[in-house]
Amino acid sequence: MKHRNARVLSLLLAVVCLCGLFTGCTAKPQEANEEAKYDYLVLVNKQSKLPDDWESVVVLEDAQNTLPEDIALNEDNDYLATDVFKVETKALEAFRALQEDCAKDGITILLDSTYRSVARQQELWAEFAEEYGEDYCKKYVAVPGYSEHHTGLAIDICVIKDGRIINDNDEMIAERELFAKIHEKLADHGFILRYPEGRDDSTGYSYEPWHFRYVGSAEIAKEIMERGLTLEEYLTLSTQAQNPNK
Ligand code: DAL
Ligand code: ZN
Repeated sequence: MKHRNARVLSLLLAVVCLCGLFTGCTAKPQEANEEAKYDYLVLVNKQSKLPDDWESVVVLEDAQNTLPEDIALNEDNDYLATDVFKVETKALEAFRALQEDCAKDGITILLDSTYRSVARQQELWAEFAEEYGEDYCKKYVAVPGYSEHHTGLAIDICVIKDGRIINDNDEMIAERELFAKIHEKLADHGFILRYPEGRDDSTGYSYEPWHFRYVGSAEIAKEIMERGLTLEEYLTLSTQAQNPNK
């Protein structure tokens, strides 16, 4: 009797240990899943709408710009000092690091436009359509519901140069040297230049030197930026690598 009990006990122990081992094996992916509540590589473009449940899941933080005291503001740029911008948690942390990195080189970058609701995108489309026309909108403004800004992972910046705020699209496009220096630093902080020059065939949009997209890690951002890929191309290649027989 005593012996049988001992055998049952050791069997039980073995089962418990094995369970422990399996739990140990699965712990990592579970933890990883818990950490990544959403897909930092989510694709939102002219063909791919924002996923329906996205806005109920994404965690957004409030952020404000700190402007140098001697900056002269006017009605076209005072929003930079007063607006509260919403940005996804990890993307904001990464942006602050990018900002510091730029500051080390004497470059001041500011938040200009971050998370936008579908309603705000609608207003923006109407404002741009009135000022620049529909053709301009098709190149630079997403149709409401199809903007990466709905994800909280996209950040438009503007810059301060020689004590002056530059937030006009054409002026920013003309600042090639300055933006090239900023773009060099993006991947180290998990950002990509989302709409590179001459890649509207793939992204659907014209060159936007100000629009950065957080992709979740420096490793992925470097792969995209160093290989000169668009997010669309990177995702297609990743899918092909995962399903080589398709
Ligand atoms: N400027 C980008 C395309 C947007 O409106 O989402
Ligand atoms: Zn943008």
